Amino acid sequence: MAEMLKLQLPDLIEMQRRGDRIAVVTAYDAPSARLADEAGIDIILVGDSAAMTVLGHDSTLPVTVDEMLVLTRAVTRAVRRAIVVADMPFGSFQVSDAAAVQNAVRFAKEASADAVKIEGAGPSLGRARAIIEAGIAVMGHVGLTPQSVTKLGGYKAQGRLADDALKIVEDAIALERAGCFAVVLEAMPAPVAERISELLTVPTIGIGAGAACDGQVLVWHDLLGLSRGHIAKFVKQYAHLGGEIAAALSAYVSDVRQERFPAAEHTYAMPEAERARFESLAPKPGGGITERARS
Ligand code: KIV
Repeated sequence: MAEMLKLQLPDLIEMQRRGDRIAVVTAYDAPSARLADEAGIDIILVGDSAAMTVLGHDSTLPVTVDEMLVLTRAVTRAVRRAIVVADMPFGSFQVSDAAAVQNAVRFAKEASADAVKIEGAGPSLGRARAIIEAGIAVMGHVGLTPQSVTKLGGYKAQGRLADDALKIVEDAIALERAGCFAVVLEAMPAPVAERISELLTVPTIGIGAGAACDGQVLVWHDLLGLSRGHIAKFVKQYAHLGGEIAAALSAYVSDVRQERFPAAEHTYAMPEAERARFESLAPKPGGGITERARS
């Protein structure tokens, strides 16, 4: 296979300048990250959506820095080309600049993340500045910010009213000014994301934000049809792997029950003479133990 050159952050600006869209997906383990990397994904986000998609929580809030570090390490071990962004989980950057820098350093040092992502503007602006001053690149995230789901009143599109939309525009501009290398725009009307994409010089990465963003991000489980329950309007499912996996597992259960698996081709043999010797020496059910076993 041809060597894959590692993408650098300036490559994203170059893509944006050329009008080449940036493809982003979340991943949380090595085999998934390898597949994404080999498919040409530009940024792999180890999203705190892992709390829901892989850890089974019903929001993103409970996932910890230590859990995110395990997942991020698995991803960076497998990736050759893509930029790996680690999502800083709830509580890891909200408390103080110092805590934000300390936790961001862990993602860079202990998990080899290329960058971190933090949600929101307001107090997050100072956090972003502090992390960037410490030498770590930061991706911003505005619109629907799931760590604030309670404050936002649920998982719903933001900026449908002009004043709310203007606030999102201001927040995105402020994140760029704070030094973010890209900003995620989640769940907002397309005209709002389009205006932000025109105003910002750094790439915008949309999820439920229309086609004018410089890139798009989807959650792994949504894209591949592995999610259960409500699927957001903005998700396009490129496969229905959940159904395929369920069918494969049912077939396996049935093969085991019916003794169709393992078949001869899944089974180790032994040379005939060794087998004959083994049969003669091995203890027989109900036959007591052999001379050899006794000695
Ligand atoms: O955690 C995540 O998966 C995200 C994306 C939805 C942008 O933040």
